[in-house]
Amino acid sequence: MGTTLQTPLLSRLRSETRTEHDAVERTLLLMEDDLTLERYRRRLQQFYGFYQPVEKWLLDDGGFIAPWLAVEPRRKTPLLQADLIALGQQTDTRLPLCTQLPSLGSAAECFGCLYVLEGATLGGVIINRYVEQKLGVAQDSGAKFFCGYGGQTGAMWQQFRTAISDFSLTSSEQDVVVASARATFDTLQQWCEKEVSR
Ligand code: HEM
Repeated sequence: MGTTLQTPLLSRLRSETRTEHDAVERTLLLMEDDLTLERYRRRLQQFYGFYQPVEKWLLDDGGFIAPWLAVEPRRKTPLLQADLIALGQQTDTRLPLCTQLPSLGSAAECFGCLYVLEGATLGGVIINRYVEQKLGVAQDSGAKFFCGYGGQTGAMWQQFRTAISDFSLTSSEQDVVVASARATFDTLQQWCEKEVSR
């Protein structure tokens, strides 16, 4: 199986989460003239607090995606850890972890969530370029997370699209996928809003 066509589910995800995407973007304030290293580091800490429990669930506890896609090579938690250490974080510092996670109890819910995490690598390319130019942070000095898959970004996204399209052919739960993607954006935004951005 496998299709690279823009399936109805992918079109729906894109259009029906645009408002949430743009709201997260406005909360993060990463592409701003006044971006500081401190805000950048804070955002990475917040991402760590969100991605760590979500990826743990997707991999260890849920495992719902495994029939369609290997999630392990897509983990971003190790990249976030490496970035925070490169930016001076002590390795034994306990960062707060988000406990208000989106519901991830089925393949449909996990796919909705993973859509958000995987799509973030697309915007990451642009953020990465900006952060390097603005703050001088490069891949090995704190920008592994936003570098993401580097030159493989397009191919990895294509592979994800194929997997979610294959899934959507056999699932009647497309509304659940979309609702889960929106819930993932919302919970991430609420988590990142908790701290006043500087
Ligand atoms: C300052 C922050 C952000 C900027 C500037 C940004 C920018 C972008 C851009 C330009 C694209 C389109 C890329 C393309 O079509 O090749 C995109 C796509 C996407 N971004 Fe973001 N993004 C940001 C943050 C995020 C975050 C935090 C997430 C989720 C955790 C996210 C999730 C997505 C998703 C899911 C898509 C795919 C949309 C689709 O084509 O279906 N973005 N972003």
